[in-house]
Formats: sequence, structure tokens, C-alpha cells
Amino acid sequence: MPNKPEPKKSQARPRISVADIRARKGGVPLVCLTAYTTPMAQRLDSHVDLLLVGDSLAMVVYGMKTTVGVTLETMINHGAAVMRGAQRACVIVDLPYGSYEAGAELAYASAARVMKETGAQGVKLEGGVEMAGTVRHLVGHGIPVLGHVGLLPQKVTDKSGYRIQGKDDVGWKRVLADAEAIAGADAFAIVIEGTVEPLARQITETVAVPTIGIGASPACDGQILVTDDVLGVFSDFTPSFVKRYAELGPDIERAARAYAEDVRKRRFPGPEHCFPLPSPRPKSKA
Ligand code: KIV
Repeated sequence: MPNKPEPKKSQARPRISVADIRARKGGVPLVCLTAYTTPMAQRLDSHVDLLLVGDSLAMVVYGMKTTVGVTLETMINHGAAVMRGAQRACVIVDLPYGSYEAGAELAYASAARVMKETGAQGVKLEGGVEMAGTVRHLVGHGIPVLGHVGLLPQKVTDKSGYRIQGKDDVGWKRVLADAEAIAGADAFAIVIEGTVEPLARQITETVAVPTIGIGASPACDGQILVTDDVLGVFSDFTPSFVKRYAELGPDIERAARAYAEDVRKRRFPGPEHCFPLPSPRPKSKA
């Protein structure tokens, strides 16, 4: 395949561990992106500290309306694909909706499958105070956990929806308590999503582990975005906190249009894409 990313640079450096991520509290901001496939993981690997196999793939890859429909099997398949492409980045896989909330034992069974079947460095799960016991249980059984507080996409079906969190006093206190509970349960870092800036700042100043913001605050210890948003590939909607660094969607359409025209006009394939008979023609063995 043309233009294959060269893996040499990233192979030379050891993989970033969850301990390395944790040690970055207050240091150079952590660079994090989502990845769902081997080729994308290869492209991103040497540029990021952490790749998240996010359940956002339900919407971005599978065209679902929310993240709720994605299964554990699907997350495991994509986690394994990303691990085949990423040599250096710390790879974390989302536990999908329904695979952990009912209790610590269920969460352990799901997380252990993710760890065994993907080789990833840890799992992410959504929730605060109510999930702290589960996080402690997983960490106590050797499974590193990335927390996720603030706007919780797996809970869009309840009244919190996709609303920015922490605007009122009650919401502010709840998200702060959530972050403190998850940090206290020994998560190695916490994603803060869709949360007013001063609250994200306060959480970052309060908890001992790195915070990774998405629509949160530059005060966070790192940032994460959905790669397809960054590249302009996913266009169903673009949250206002996303910065696009490329517009690959129109490029893809341009390429498809040019290919279609070439095929219809018999301009593709050209002679350079065909296999001529070698001359002299090899004799077939009797
Ligand atoms: O699923 C996902 O991609 C996420 C990030 C956006 C944080 O949870």
C-alpha cells in the first residue's frame, strides 16, 4: 500500500504505561486521541501519549445515534485492532454501557476480558460517586482504570442528556464529588467531559491524578478529542469544543468522484495497474 506510516520511530521507544500517564500530573499536557482501527493507530501512535478505543465508535464507525448500543465484543475487536497498530502509546479501551454498572463482579469480568483479549493497558468507565467502589475493586484486582466524569454520553437517555455540566451549584458539587471519589478510588487519571471551565480547573487543582479534558478546560492536565472530529471525517454534528485540524471528508468525496469518473471513462486501470504476460512466456510444467 502506498504511503504506509513508518513504524520504526515508535518501535524504538518503550510503550507509555499508566504509571507514566499518572506521573504527568501538572507537567507537559497529555496528548490523547481516539483510535478504532490498526491503520489509524499506526498513524497516530508516535504523536500521542494515550489512544482511547472509545465507545464513540458506536456513532463514528457504526452510525448509531448514541454510544449505548455498542457491545463488549465490538469494543474488544477494536481494542485488539488498535493494539496491533500502536507500539508506543498507552492504549485504553472503553467499557461499554451495560458491561459494568450492575456491580463490581460484572465490571471485573468485562474488564478482565478486555485486558486478556486486547492486551490494552487499562479500561475507562463512566461515572462518579456511584462507581467508586467498582473502580477500587478493579484497581485492587490489577486493572488500571481511567475515570470519566462530567458529561456522560452513556447516560444521555436520562435527564442529564448532552448538557454542559457544573452550571449550577448542585451540578458543580456533584461533578466535583464524582471526580474526588474516582481519584480516591485510585483511577490513574480522569477524563472530564463537557464541564464548565472553572469547575474543570478546580477539579484539576484538587485531585492528585491527571485530568484529561474534552470540552472542559485548558487547565486540565491533558486533552482528548475524537480523531474523526479532528480530521473532519465525522460530520453528523461537531461539538463546539472541537477544533478541526483537517477537512478529510470533502477530500474523500473528491477522491471517490475522481475514481468513479476514471472507471466510467475507462481511464482506470491504466497499463501500470495491469499484469502483462511476461515475455518470453514461461513454459508450463507438464
Ligand atoms: O468514547 C469516547 O470517545 C470518549 C472520549 C470522547 C472521551 O469517551
